[in-house]
Amino acid sequence: MNAISPAVPAPIGLLAELTHRCPLRCPYCSNPLELDRRSGELDTATWQRVLSEAAELGVLHIHLSGGEPTARADIVEITGHCARLGLYSNLITSGVAGALQKLEPLADVGLDHVQLSVQAADAARAERIGGLRGAQEQKLVFGRRVVELGLPLTLNAVIHRGNIDEVQAIIDLAVELGARRLEIAHTQYYGWAYLNRAALMPTRADVALSIAAVEAARARLAGRLVIDLVVPDYYAKYPKACAGGWGRRLMNVTPAGKVLPCHAAETIPGLEFWHVTEHSLGDIWHRSPAFNAYRGTDWMPEPCRSCDRRELDWGGCRCQALALAGDAAATDPACSLSPLHARIKDLAVSEAATEVAPDYRYRVIGGAPAAARQEEPA
Ligand code: SF4
Ligand code: FES
Repeated sequence: MNAISPAVPAPIGLLAELTHRCPLRCPYCSNPLELDRRSGELDTATWQRVLSEAAELGVLHIHLSGGEPTARADIVEITGHCARLGLYSNLITSGVAGALQKLEPLADVGLDHVQLSVQAADAARAERIGGLRGAQEQKLVFGRRVVELGLPLTLNAVIHRGNIDEVQAIIDLAVELGARRLEIAHTQYYGWAYLNRAALMPTRADVALSIAAVEAARARLAGRLVIDLVVPDYYAKYPKACAGGWGRRLMNVTPAGKVLPCHAAETIPGLEFWHVTEHSLGDIWHRSPAFNAYRGTDWMPEPCRSCDRRELDWGGCRCQALALAGDAAATDPACSLSPLHARIKDLAVSEAATEVAPDYRYRVIGGAPAAARQEEPA
């Protein structure tokens, strides 16, 4: 076991991508284009060991995610292990297929929280976006059952051109379901969302309307519903502190056991990721090359290096810098101080201005497919 540097505090959260299998095919999915196959997934005992190591390291929150985490036959066992370790468990789910059948057993073993995704408030629209017929009714039944079981429910809606006019209706849906929290999360363009950016980018005017709707609802629903708002990077003045800053708060374990500083880190060429079958989680957090590559501020170029926001947003997103500037160590072009910012903003404006959005390229295991028709859910 290698010495642990006291200079690096423990991570707060761990995103456990238990599987990339998912009944939905959302075109904004943040999973990589090359999805892990079932045959390569970690087994139950390995996940339990990883979770034990996470607790030992000081992690407090486990986000049980995917893909669809309830597609794993051992989801109840894994969740029960979190509870025994005193880890706060959050199930991030689509609420469809077999999710409902597993809900009560999950509550029984100590699941702490459920985050349910919705694609839109209108069923036909939601099912077109998620690519699965009949999904909306299943989600509504699932959400109501979460509340009946006394579990705290968060609704998560990724916002884009195809649903931005429904923000108010989504807020109403969250109230109707009895959710305690709603995340109105404008699309972040990584993974499948980057591939589909031209189909998803909303106009600046629509973004402003959506923000106004959230602000009005926050005032109206104070004490009843908390609404988190993630604003779209391309129209922002400053970038977000992606993943809370590289190697500062979060670890992301892929279905096959690779440990990443953020969900899109594998897009950055040349980074060396360590694997849970070869290293302990503590070793990976403190010593792995990938986690140390952009930790802190020493790696920063100008204008970040001398910027007084450098320890607020940690230079923005490395994966976005790579995608937009061709260099993961560049200032995130979402920042208005980046020399590339104007070009990125113009790109967003021109993509959003097209009269007819391009067809979605739906998420699928086996690589990015040819364009699929938006109006043909499975
Ligand atoms: Fe953040 Fe860098 Fe922009 Fe300053 S220059 S606001 S540190 S991204
Ligand atoms: Fe990788 Fe932002 S998604 S740093």
